[in-house]
Amino acid sequence: MAERDNSLKILSENRQAGHNYFLLDRFEAGMVLTGTEVKAAKDNKIQLKEAYGAVLGDEAWLVNAHISQYSHGNRENHPPVRNRKLLLHRREIDKLLVQTRDKGLQLIPTKIYLKNGKIKCELALAKGKKLHDKRETERKRTAEDEARATEFLRDRQFIDLLEAAPNRLTTDQLTGLLRPLPPRLYSVASSRAAVGEEAHLLIGAVRWHSHGRVRHGVASVDVAERRGPGSTLPVYVKPNPHFRLPANPDTPIIMIGPGTGVAPFRAFLQQREAAGARGRNWLFFGARRFTHDFLYQLEWQDWLQSGVLNRIDLAFSRDQRSKIYVQHRMWEARRDVFRWLEEGATVYVCGDAKAMAKDVHATLLRVIADQSGRGEGGAAGYLRDAQRAGRYLRDVY
Ligand SMILES: Cc1cc2nc3c(=O)[nH]c(=O)nc-3n(C[C@H](O)[C@H](O)[C@H](O)COP(=O)(O)OP(=O)(O)OC[C@H]3O[C@@H](n4cnc5c(N)ncnc54)[C@H](O)[C@@H]3O)c2cc1C
Ligand SMILES: NC(=O)c1ccc[n+]([C@@H]2O[C@H](COP(=O)([O-])OP(=O)(O)OC[C@H]3O[C@@H](n4cnc5c(N)ncnc54)[C@H](OP(=O)(O)O)[C@@H]3O)[C@@H](O)[C@H]2O)c1
Repeated sequence: MAERDNSLKILSENRQAGHNYFLLDRFEAGMVLTGTEVKAAKDNKIQLKEAYGAVLGDEAWLVNAHISQYSHGNRENHPPVRNRKLLLHRREIDKLLVQTRDKGLQLIPTKIYLKNGKIKCELALAKGKKLHDKRETERKRTAEDEARATEFLRDRQFIDLLEAAPNRLTTDQLTGLLRPLPPRLYSVASSRAAVGEEAHLLIGAVRWHSHGRVRHGVASVDVAERRGPGSTLPVYVKPNPHFRLPANPDTPIIMIGPGTGVAPFRAFLQQREAAGARGRNWLFFGARRFTHDFLYQLEWQDWLQSGVLNRIDLAFSRDQRSKIYVQHRMWEARRDVFRWLEEGATVYVCGDAKAMAKDVHATLLRVIADQSGRGEGGAAGYLRDAQRAGRYLRDVY
């Protein structure tokens, strides 16, 4: 006796069906397909295109089936085969009759497959065609184009665009495509009380690699590489009334400023020194390497010696295998950080907004929760109150 083949092999799938119709019930129908068609089916090369099921009289039919032995069969080259009678169970036909005729539903063939050695067809009961709104399609296409453009532009610059789409442009056309260079902001790193009519800036040269090129920050590298002594630049002053020393010179301050974020704190200390302010000053500074990036090192050391700076905690991130950041130093010093807070210290944070400021904020919350015993909710309230009272100030970018 021949062995029964229980496998199920999909020969053809109408992938558009679910896209174009609201499909409800599905039915299995047997089809009478023999000879060469079955052979082709075994090669998984049968295609079903634009066929529909219909209940004609008391029988279910597969009408207009386009069965091709090529996987990309073109309708024009392969005319529809004879309509096929679908051997559905009698009760199912009755059900289909009621559902299709009385409720205006349609039958859509969704699959042809080989089951137990027989060709079967899956018919789905469909509720009308989905209307594809042209405007919706257009909107989708625009959104897709924009997403692709954003993806292309990520980490690329105007020069990459010119390279990708070379074009002869006149000077006017070229400049017409560019927006005016927006200004860059830099914290003033000095106090007039100490340096008179000067303003010192601390500018970190921004350089990175992307898409096979070395990239340069426009303004910072302009200053670092192209300008020399005697060069001039157009500048303006943008006051920041929210990031100032406390009005009371006796108020202790904790300054957290990794990298170029340390700039305003140099100005703060110059100011406090010049004014003879008695408030205590504590700096958390972080940079990549002690030898290369310890910004204003000698000045902090002088201030430590003279007592203007009471404490400095340093975090050089790349001097050892694992990263050490300012927030790690804050956590180590949590008892004192909280004591200073309780004594009315104002906390300042300056520098990177993307990661540093968030991590420092989270650490402050952890420190307060740990030291006050008030838990997370209490710590959040404590820091919010400090913020409202102008004792937790941030200048992050
Ligand atoms: C209030 C405020 C105060 C500031 N204070 C100071 C300060 O005291 N000192 C200081 O140095 N800066 C400071 N900045 C930052 C400064 O304004 C400039 O943003 C910075 O110098 C870069 O400008 P740029 O023209 O050199 O770079 P741009 O030509 O503007 O390029 C910067 C852009 O390059 C991209 N980029 C940068 N690095 C990478 C990377 N690794 N990978 C991929 N893309 C990257 C980013 O898209 C970034 O927006 C401050 C910013 C603000 C808002
Ligand atoms: N030698 C150089 O060429 C050089 C040196 C300094 C700065 N710069 C450039 O100058 C620009 C400004 O630099 P910057 O000095 O302000 O910043 P920075 O050097 O990029 O960062 C300052 C310090 O903050 C650390 N840091 C990174 N993520 C942090 C986080 N989540 N929390 C706390 N600290 C974190 C950095 O460590 P890690 O970076 O080790 O993670 C580094 O030690 C940057 O674009 C930078 O590329 C170049």
